[in-house]
Amino acid sequence: MRISSFTFEPWATVHQQRVEQALDRILPLADIPPATLHAAMRYAVLGGGKRVRALLSYASAELVGAPASSADAAAVAVELIHAFSLVHDDMPCMDDDDLRRGKPSCHKQYGDATALLVGDALQSLAFQSIAETNAPQALKQVQVLAQATGSRGMCGGQSIDLQSTGQLLTRNALETMHQYKTGALIRAATLLGAYAAEDISEADLHLLTHYSENMGLAFQVVDDILDATADTQTLGKTAGKDALQEKSTYVSLLGIDEANALVKRLYEQTLQLLAGFDNQADPLRGIARFICERPF
Ligand code: IPE
Ligand code: IPE
Ligand code: MG
Ligand code: MG
Ligand code: MG
Repeated sequence: MRISSFTFEPWATVHQQRVEQALDRILPLADIPPATLHAAMRYAVLGGGKRVRALLSYASAELVGAPASSADAAAVAVELIHAFSLVHDDMPCMDDDDLRRGKPSCHKQYGDATALLVGDALQSLAFQSIAETNAPQALKQVQVLAQATGSRGMCGGQSIDLQSTGQLLTRNALETMHQYKTGALIRAATLLGAYAAEDISEADLHLLTHYSENMGLAFQVVDDILDATADTQTLGKTAGKDALQEKSTYVSLLGIDEANALVKRLYEQTLQLLAGFDNQADPLRGIARFICERPF
């Protein structure tokens, strides 16, 4: 029987702090011109967020035996892309949300034009973070992250989300939308961490791809459930918006109970996937549980 003394919370705290410091270092200081843009970029990125995508990068680096230091650039990059996606997602032309991470959303604080530029600038800073490592695997990481961000990834999913508002999507179409808008970046976060290793086996890549696809879907299904069941204070963003805006979600299609049952199934399948691994997969197990059972 596998014996493990691993506990997820301390591991997560150490790595959340690690990426927070790395983000702080890469973001230009708020008094460096153009100061408004830099202040707004720091506002959108620092001091909030669960940092799940960064944790995935560190956890998969750990699975393949690479040190956390080799995954810092990837962890920073995926959190910057994620923050960019949130800034734009909240804008009046998209979800029109005033609250993010317990604070006024970026456009509420700095205005629409600056929020638009914040997203643009965070996106390029993400790619800069990877390119500046000069590591042999940087080009591959840039390619995977670019694909996950673009029209066949997050941006594509956001486009489907906007177009499907007010409609009832089929289960397949809804799954595709979730895999694009949220799953693609979660997959990239996981794979980028693994690419931090100099050598990675096809079997590990396959496993991590499967793991991250399950978790990408589970993450957005839980987000849909929380939107319908948690309160604004707990979430740090406006609760109940999906129903109000007639969004296509797993809750609107399946109801809360079936959506919860799907998350449970995805969690169990994911643990099965990791069954052949020893303690080096403990962080991935912990993240899977956190994604599926988180309260916000
Ligand atoms: C919210 O993501 C947006 C989705 C893709 C569902 P998170 O729940 O990871 O947001 P933060 O980073 O913790 O604020
Ligand atoms: C967001 O989905 C997905 C992104 C790519 C940002 P949501 O619109 O459901 O995210 P929240 O609920 O506003 O965080
Ligand atoms: Mg949205
Ligand atoms: Mg939204
Ligand atoms: Mg949501």
